[in-house]
Amino acid sequence: MCGIIGYIGSKNSVPFLIEGLKKLEYRGYDSAGIAVAEDGHIHRVRSVGKVAELEKAALLEAPRGNCGLGHTRWATHGKPSQENSHPHTDCSGDIVVVHNGIIENYLPLKDKLQALGHKFQSETDTEVIAHLIEENLQHISAASDEERFFLAVMKTSDELQGAFAYGAMWAKTPGQIIGVKNQSPLVVGLGEGENFLASDVPAFLKYTSKVLFLEDGQTVVLTPQGAKVYGMDGQEVKVKPVKISWDQKTAEKGGYDHFMLKEIYDQPQALEDTLRTAEADFIRILNLKTEDLRRIKNVYLVACGTAYHAALIGKYYLENFAGVTASVDLASEFKYRTIPPAKDTLCIAVSQSGETADTLGAVKKAKELGFKRLAICNVLGSGLTRACGSVFYTHCGPEISVASTKAFTSQIISLYALAIFLGQASGNLSRGQFNTLYKELMALPKAVADTLKIEYDVRHLTKKVYKANRFIFLGRNVDYPVALEGALKLKEISYSSAEGFAAGEIKHGPISVIDKGTPVIVLMPKNHLFDKMLSACQECRARGAFVIAVTTPQGQEEAASVSDKQIIVPQASEYLQPVLDVISLQFFAYWVAKRLGRDIDQPRNLAKSVTVE
Ligand code: F6R
Repeated sequence: MCGIIGYIGSKNSVPFLIEGLKKLEYRGYDSAGIAVAEDGHIHRVRSVGKVAELEKAALLEAPRGNCGLGHTRWATHGKPSQENSHPHTDCSGDIVVVHNGIIENYLPLKDKLQALGHKFQSETDTEVIAHLIEENLQHISAASDEERFFLAVMKTSDELQGAFAYGAMWAKTPGQIIGVKNQSPLVVGLGEGENFLASDVPAFLKYTSKVLFLEDGQTVVLTPQGAKVYGMDGQEVKVKPVKISWDQKTAEKGGYDHFMLKEIYDQPQALEDTLRTAEADFIRILNLKTEDLRRIKNVYLVACGTAYHAALIGKYYLENFAGVTASVDLASEFKYRTIPPAKDTLCIAVSQSGETADTLGAVKKAKELGFKRLAICNVLGSGLTRACGSVFYTHCGPEISVASTKAFTSQIISLYALAIFLGQASGNLSRGQFNTLYKELMALPKAVADTLKIEYDVRHLTKKVYKANRFIFLGRNVDYPVALEGALKLKEISYSSAEGFAAGEIKHGPISVIDKGTPVIVLMPKNHLFDKMLSACQECRARGAFVIAVTTPQGQEEAASVSDKQIIVPQASEYLQPVLDVISLQFFAYWVAKRLGRDIDQPRNLAKSVTVE
C-alpha cells in the first residue's frame, strides 16, 4: 500500500528515485510522483498510472537535485488523479511530504488548518501533514533552519493519529530528509556519501545492503553523511545497522517475462534456504523459557489471503503431528470475534510481508488475550516480527509479484517443520516417526525442482480453457486449501471467476454452477482419498464439465479414465503433496492470465502489502 523512496547524496536524485519506485511498484501502482530540491525551490513531477508514465514525464521536465522524495500510490483517500498523487505540499509549495498509511484524524486536522487559512489542493489525508508542518514551523524558533524543520516534524507527528510512515523535505534545507515511522514500514539504506529512505529494502538494494530498521515512533534525519535516529522524546537513539543477505538478483526478473514466473521457479531454492535454518530455529524457539511453547495445547492461526491458505494446511499439521487443537481465522475476522481467554494458547501469525494491517490487528488482540505469539514471516524487522514473542523466518528473498507463490510454499513447509518439532518436543511423535517426517521434508526441494518440469504441459492445456469465464477447483483434506489457493491465484491475475471447494461439498450446492465445458480442476494425488476424487470427477463430468485432473504417476491411468486432461506431478508423502500440487495451479493461473494479456505482476485493484484495514 504505497511505496516511499528518498535519496540524499552528491548525485542527481532523480534516477535513484525512479529506479526505487520501480522496485516498490508492487506496493501500489495507480499514480506516482517525485519531488527534488532544485536551486532553492521544489520541483515536483507527478502522473497518473504506473511509474513508467512518471519516468516519461520526468524525462521531459528534467528535474535535478541531490535530495529528493518519491512515491507510488495505492489510493485510499481520493481517486487516482494528478492532484491526489504524492508528493504533497504545503501552501508555499516548499515543504513536500510522501506518505504510506492512513492519518485517521485528518478531517479534524484539515478543518483546523483550513480555519487558519491553509489552502488544500487534494482530497488526500497526506496533505494535512505538509500543512501541519508549515503551521508548526511558524511557532518554532531554533538555531538553524535544519533544527527548526526537525522540531516542526516532531511536533507534527505528535498530532497525527493512525498507522503511517512519511518522508518530509523542505526547499530551505536541501541537505536533509526526514523520515517518520509509526506502524507502517520505513527503512534506511546507508551508502557511501549517500543515503536512502524507503518502504522496503529492494528499493535501494542495488546501492547498499547496510540497513537501519526503524522502530515505531522513531524519526530519522538523513544527510549525505549519515542518518541520526530519534525517539519520541526527541533524544537520539543508537540503531545498529543490519547487513541484508538478500542478493540484488533475487529482486530482478532474471530473464523471465514476469516476476511471478521467476518466483515460481525460485521455489526449490526458497524452500532449501528456509529449511536450512529450520532445525536450529525451531529448537531455539521451543526452548525459549519465556515462551514455553512445548506446553501449548491450543493454537490459533491467523493470516490473510494466500497466507491464510497456508495456515489452513498448517492446521492439519499441528493437529496431526503436534497433537494440539488448532483453528484458523482470517485475521480480519479474528479481531472482531469473541475468543475465550485460555491458558497455554499460542497464536501463529503467517505473513509474507509482516505488515498486513489485519494480521497485525489480530496479533494485537492475541496479546490482549494473553496468548503467546509466533510469527512466520519473510521480512526481517517488519511490524509483525516485533509484535510477536518469537519469529521463524521463511527465507524466500523478496517476493515482488503481487500474486504470492514462493512465500506460500515456504509458509507451508515452515508450519510442517514447526508441527514436527513441536510433536517431537511434546512427545506426540516418537523418535522414529519424527525422523521419517524430517527426512521427507528435507527431500522436498528436489521434488519441487522436478515438479517445475510440468510448465510446458500446463501451458499447453490452458490453450483449451483460458477463455472460460468460470473455473472450479476441487480438493480434499490437505489439498482443499490448495484448491482455494488455485482459485485465488487464478482470479487475482486473470480476473476470471474462480472458486475452490472441498470436493465432498460440491453436491451440497456448488455443482449447480457446472455447465457444459466448465473447467473443473481436480486435485487427486494417489492417496487414501483417491477413490472419492474419482467419484467427484465423474459427478462433474456427468454435468458436462471439462475435467482436468492433477494427479501423480501412480494415479495417472485411473485419473485418465474420468478426466479430459491430466497434469502429472511427482508423488510426495500425503502431507507434503500440497507443495507439489500447488505448483501446477500457479502455472495454470500464470498461463491463463498470460493468454488473456493481463498485467500479471501488477493486477488491477491490488497491492502487495495491504497496510490498511
Ligand atoms: C495473494 C496474496 C495476498 C496475500 C495477503 C497477505 O496472492 O498475495 O492474498 O497473501 O494479502 O499478505 P501477507 O502474507 O504479506 O500478510
